[in-house]
Amino acid sequence: MKRKQTSCVMPTYGKKTLQFNKGRGCYLYTTKNEKYLDFASGIAVNSLGHCHPRLVKVLNRQSKELWHVSNLYLIKKQEEFAKLLSKNSFADKVFFTNSGTESIECGIKIIRSYHHFHNTGKNEIITFKGAFHGRTYGALSAQRNKKYSKGFGPLLSGFKQVEFNDIDKLKKIISKRTGGIIVEPIQGEGGIRPANLKFLKFLREISNKHGILLFFDEVQCGFGRSGKLFSHEWANVKPDLMAVAKGIGSGFPLGACLSTNKACISMKTGSHGSTYGGNPLAMSVGIEVLKIISNKEFLNNIDKISRYFWKELKKLESEFSIISEVRGAGLLLGIKTNSNFSNIEFSKKLRENNLLTVPAADNILRLAPPLIVKYKEIDKSILIIKKVLGNI
Ligand SMILES: Cc1ncc(COP(=O)(O)O)c(C=O)c1O
Repeated sequence: MKRKQTSCVMPTYGKKTLQFNKGRGCYLYTTKNEKYLDFASGIAVNSLGHCHPRLVKVLNRQSKELWHVSNLYLIKKQEEFAKLLSKNSFADKVFFTNSGTESIECGIKIIRSYHHFHNTGKNEIITFKGAFHGRTYGALSAQRNKKYSKGFGPLLSGFKQVEFNDIDKLKKIISKRTGGIIVEPIQGEGGIRPANLKFLKFLREISNKHGILLFFDEVQCGFGRSGKLFSHEWANVKPDLMAVAKGIGSGFPLGACLSTNKACISMKTGSHGSTYGGNPLAMSVGIEVLKIISNKEFLNNIDKISRYFWKELKKLESEFSIISEVRGAGLLLGIKTNSNFSNIEFSKKLRENNLLTVPAADNILRLAPPLIVKYKEIDKSILIIKKVLGNI
């Protein structure tokens, strides 16, 4: 006999209490019309907030023309979006996916096939402690974090891991078999930890020296979140490959793996594929998101407002001893509280005061407002955080 069930959804997510049925800008509304300030943004996804009028318009228009055709046919909008991404980045070629983890898989395949093509024997890939690259087997094997992979073994071989931001340890682990390095310029799930700019520069130098492909995971920190279109631009270095997702679609499931011509030399007809990747609906949204975010004035504004947010959070840090650190960059910021106040509890109390945030590793409370956030909304969030901390 079947057990009585309350939900038929596989129980892979925690207990849910809130339900939203409307979103506008930086706000979400519950079924009871309660208003929440959304500084979670669907985990750094809703880059342009909820239901941005320009995105609603392009999605509506496209939905009346054509939703899906296979990649067996020419998709004009896919060509257009790839060209636009290339114009705005280091990349020559783009493979479209539907999520971050798929973009990572594509990049891992490109690294392996590049070295196979050149017969270098370099089939090992280095990743960093605290990394999060997704939930598929390539990503699980790359990030080597038991929290996500326990019970799912055996993982794929050929990955090594070393401390993040540690040049000396990295030098020691690199061997003649090292073919790729995957790094998040700002670790998100790992606790909002930015890579030192010096470290990123070093990764480029050592990759050049040893014929290694450098693969940036900008799934969480890309698409304007850092105040530049891609966060590696702060270090003035270019990768060979880059995974993007989340903010690229502002809520529409979309991702991409960007590559130089050199890195993807062996990717030919049949090397890789996706049924949905690059479909007209996703492309129409992606093009519009990129047009908005790549605007210099828009990016300057993110930079300005994020510096203001940072300053206000630093004031809280000096006022409340329970805060041990404020860290991050741009509009991907984290508050670390000392160990007797957990980030889960912190996030819960903020939620009770109508501010949505997301916990990350290392007892970090993550703040990732939509990139369209206004000063008055930053001020409102600060007041709520202050009230919650004052009541502890
Ligand atoms: C840096 C990074 N890479 C990859 C992923 C996986 O993305 P997705 O959940 O869209 O597969 C995430 C998701 O949080 C991420 O933060």
